[in-house]
Amino acid sequence: MNRIAIAIDGPAGAGKSTISRLIAEKMGIEYIDTGAMYRAITLKLINKGVDISDIQKVKDIVNSTKVELVNGRVYLDEIDVTEEIRMPYVSAKVSDVAAIPCVRERLVHLQREMAKKTSVIMDGRDIGTNVLKDAEVKIYLTASVEERAKRRYIELKNKGIDVTFEEICNDIKNRDNIDTNREVNPLRKADDAVLVDTTGKSIQQVVDEIISIIKEGANL
Ligand code: CDP
Ligand code: CDP
Repeated sequence: MNRIAIAIDGPAGAGKSTISRLIAEKMGIEYIDTGAMYRAITLKLINKGVDISDIQKVKDIVNSTKVELVNGRVYLDEIDVTEEIRMPYVSAKVSDVAAIPCVRERLVHLQREMAKKTSVIMDGRDIGTNVLKDAEVKIYLTASVEERAKRRYIELKNKGIDVTFEEICNDIKNRDNIDTNREVNPLRKADDAVLVDTTGKSIQQVVDEIISIIKEGANL
């Protein structure tokens, strides 16, 4: 198989990471969760008590921070933060941090470097429109807000995290709003991306649908 890049974009809870991970396993390629990188930087800024309107401070921290994705785990300055970055207090701040241009500049650079080395499936908000504009296959995954919030609610409850459905719903709507309306590389479907609505579909159904889009799009 030639080197291939697959871009998966869409709003929170659409199923991007679940589906991308399964497809990466099936195809034997690398999965890169770009949202985890924005979450890791956000966690660092929270832990350091940084006022994110202090752009110079944010820039200094971002440029001296190590974020690595290794075997499905997320490392922030060599510490495993895989679980912590999913906590609601990080979700509540991540879209504001991700809207800061110097944060995006640094992370987009790292993401492109990762994709140079090997075949990848990369998920996020601006992969098809910006990070990997030349990706062989682009998918825009979505689902209704209610379904996305329900999925996230069940997921957090199963992990024993205490949240209400309203809190999750508000977080998702708030992030959708910031991600879609920010100035730098907002969330939107690339013109050449295939739209897949996952509302009411099982994970397996979505995986099968996307595998056939990949086969067709990449001539596999
Ligand atoms: O998993 P979930 O959909 O909740 O979010 P995520 O993929 O972990 O991304 C968290 C946040 O990072 C998003 O709400 C965006 O604000 C930001 N993000 C971004 O701006 N660009 C990306 N390529 C990926 C994530
Ligand atoms: O990465 P993103 O925020 O787009 O979504 P996710 O974290 O992969 O998925 C959110 C939750 O929805 C997970 O708990 C999945 O098991 C569940 N789910 C799904 O991903 N796809 C479906 N078709 C149905 C449920």
